[in-house]
Amino acid sequence: MKVYIAKNYDELSKISASIIIEDMKAKNDIILGFATGSTPIGTYQNLIAAYDAGEISFKNVTSFNLDEYIGLPRAHEQSYNYFMHEQLFNHINIDENNINIPCGDPANIEENIKKYQEKLDSNVIDIQILGIGSNGHIAFNEPGTSFSSNTHVIRLDEGTRQDNKRFFNDISEVPKEAVTMGIKDIMSAKKLIILANGKNKANAVKELLEGEKTEAFPASILLDHENAVLIVDEDAASLLEDI
Ligand code: GLP
Repeated sequence: MKVYIAKNYDELSKISASIIIEDMKAKNDIILGFATGSTPIGTYQNLIAAYDAGEISFKNVTSFNLDEYIGLPRAHEQSYNYFMHEQLFNHINIDENNINIPCGDPANIEENIKKYQEKLDSNVIDIQILGIGSNGHIAFNEPGTSFSSNTHVIRLDEGTRQDNKRFFNDISEVPKEAVTMGIKDIMSAKKLIILANGKNKANAVKELLEGEKTEAFPASILLDHENAVLIVDEDAASLLEDI
């Protein structure tokens, strides 16, 4: 795994966007895997700036998103569908038909998972962006999820709900379940860009790089990926042994 330690969040976002921009220039029908959470927002801002400057186009891009809460309508401000439109899609020329986000409608969940998985299986993601949960989750694959999992419903850990409650009025509004791309799906992407910033991610980064491979810490599988780049800021790198 290639590791970059950026001075700060701005630099982290620039490095991650520059990798994506370079690959987009080489392949205009690239398949991009997007993530939500606060970590990739700066990367998206850099992508929007490059699009505005005429450097890149999303016209032929296909996108897959990692996950979605179950039970929040698409128009809900905290749904990941809403987040992606606000943070990226509304500002670029991506074709709405090429956007794939797992559907969190509890009424048709199994059918929607099947459709999403079929789409995923017939495409290979060129670059998947990933954040890390403080408990080592990737997408919404919580500790204990099988490394060979595909898209599935997951019960969110209480710690994850607590971490994400900052986006809601209070904890009772944070959904208890989500639908997430599986770990096997994530590992099938050709390239992974893993991002972590801030002191609250320092333990997770240490565990990822220095801990053992275990399903109890989902991000530990990422070291096995042949083309993974980890970009962290100095705070997130602060507990690493040889820094
Ligand atoms: C959420 C998302 C993950 C994200 C993680 C970290 O629960 N499902 O995809 O990586 O939390 O979020 P943040 O970037 O806000 O720290």
